[in-house]
Amino acid sequence: MLKVESLTKQYGSKQVLADVSFQVNPGDIVGLVGENGAGKSTLLTILATLIQPEQGMITYHDLAYKTDQRKLRQKIGYVPQNIAIWEEFSVEENMVFFEQLSWGKKSREQLRQLCLDMKLDQWKEKAQSLSGGMKRKLNLAISLIHEPELLLLDEPTVGIDLKSRKEIGTYLQQLAKQQGKTIIYTSHDMEEIISLCDYVYCIGNDPFYKELLKEKGQHIHVL
Ligand SMILES: Nc1ncnc2c1ncn2[C@@H]1O[C@H](COP(=O)(O)OP(=O)(O)O)[C@@H](O)[C@H]1O
Ligand SMILES: [Mg+2]
Repeated sequence: MLKVESLTKQYGSKQVLADVSFQVNPGDIVGLVGENGAGKSTLLTILATLIQPEQGMITYHDLAYKTDQRKLRQKIGYVPQNIAIWEEFSVEENMVFFEQLSWGKKSREQLRQLCLDMKLDQWKEKAQSLSGGMKRKLNLAISLIHEPELLLLDEPTVGIDLKSRKEIGTYLQQLAKQQGKTIIYTSHDMEEIISLCDYVYCIGNDPFYKELLKEKGQHIHVL
């Protein structure tokens, strides 16, 4: 279980996260919503161990974020809001490159299968020639090479075609429900959040999101 207690984060004098506490169980898909600038990316970056909060305690099972960063990183897969792939490399070269940096050891065939699992089949094509949706899939595939348990995805489906969005959604559901992975992801697409997530956390007490999700019968917790 991921447990976040009394987290605060500020940039200079600007408070972004104020006393945030929540828990996520294994196998859950959690949607993180909130208006632009609410602190969604900041929270995911903290959970990815890449920046530190001012206060608060985070634990994942028996690992503490303050002391067990190395071990935690092996369990975490993080896809940032801005795509991070090598544009001039092929899909295959990207996968092999990141496999060599990762803890996990995977054969080319396993790497290829990982891409195929989410319907990314342009193995020999350069990343720069892929559609936005396919690039997102590649980024997601890269984040899964070391078989992380906890997946942190920052707007994995923003600005991509409906087909890729559905395929990514289906794949995320498989990861959570069949492989027991814990997934926290941000999105502005409420329909998608409603169809995919077990529950929703909203940063900031914005009545807009509360009303919208309540209407649809979705649970929302305000952070
Ligand atoms: N590295 C940074 N330095 C200073 N301010 C930042 C930094 N990163 C984010 N912010 C500010 O923190 C707030 C939250 O940003 P962010 O976490 O990106 O929100 P969201 O992802 O919900 O849009 C915004 O006001 C943003 O300008
Ligand atoms: Mg963001």
